[in-house]
Amino acid sequence: MKGVILAGGLGSRLLPLTKITNKHLLPVFDKPMIFYPIQTLINAGIHDILLVTGGNHAGDFLRLLGNGSEFGLAHINYTYQEGEGGIAEALRLAEYFAGDESICVVLGDNIIETNIADSVERFRKTEKGARIILKEVSDPERFGVPVLEGDRVVKIEEKPSEPKSKYAVTGIYMYDNTVFDIIKTLKPSKRGELEITDVNNAYIDRGELAWDILEGWWTDAGTFSSLHKASNLVEKTGANKL
Ligand code: DAU
Repeated sequence: MKGVILAGGLGSRLLPLTKITNKHLLPVFDKPMIFYPIQTLINAGIHDILLVTGGNHAGDFLRLLGNGSEFGLAHINYTYQEGEGGIAEALRLAEYFAGDESICVVLGDNIIETNIADSVERFRKTEKGARIILKEVSDPERFGVPVLEGDRVVKIEEKPSEPKSKYAVTGIYMYDNTVFDIIKTLKPSKRGELEITDVNNAYIDRGELAWDILEGWWTDAGTFSSLHKASNLVEKTGANKL
């Protein structure tokens, strides 16, 4: 199983902070944001990692991360997304890297208190279909929101004005290798992006989407308040605990 971190996009919600750097290089308490998703994968035992980035400051990732030796890695793979055509468009760039393996995808602005080792272990048992991770939040309308019937996720709605559950679909996804075939069938959404929620709904339609609830806190860091909140949470409790 390989790891993919999506750190493309232009971070326009964080302007002017992102005018002269990439969003994922901004500080979250005492580290650049991108350090956290890398650690999330490593703590789950995933060491073969591709970083998808984009924008005008992509070269700075190389200067910051090099070959990953600071994380105990022998190597990091990099690729470049032109523009910001969406999370699923960025993921499409990982097809060559994945080869015939399954992947664990982490969004570059997602930070967690604990780890995903148990979920990854459960997915590894079959490496078939998809597995997502949910977290109860106070503002589900900002995220992908699962519609639950009993313990089945029957649909995911992207940023619904009237959320049908109190859960967010976190930006941590496990997919078998057919994810790349699904992405090829997607059409851009109203916001002009290839949506990861459409990928997950395709797995639901096939009856192949499993889910877990994350322990500990989870936050994104893509808005001024969530970036601030992320720094406070990391300072208070630490992140990526084993
Ligand atoms: O944080 C979890 C949420 O992330 C999910 O609940 C939503 O279903 C999912 O759509 C996504 O929502 P956002 O609208 O908050 O995603 P955002 O556009 O902020 O992108 C999140 C990360 O994905 C970003 O830090 C880098 C990566 N990305 C995004 C875009 C649009 C790319 O690599 N390329 C892109 O083109």
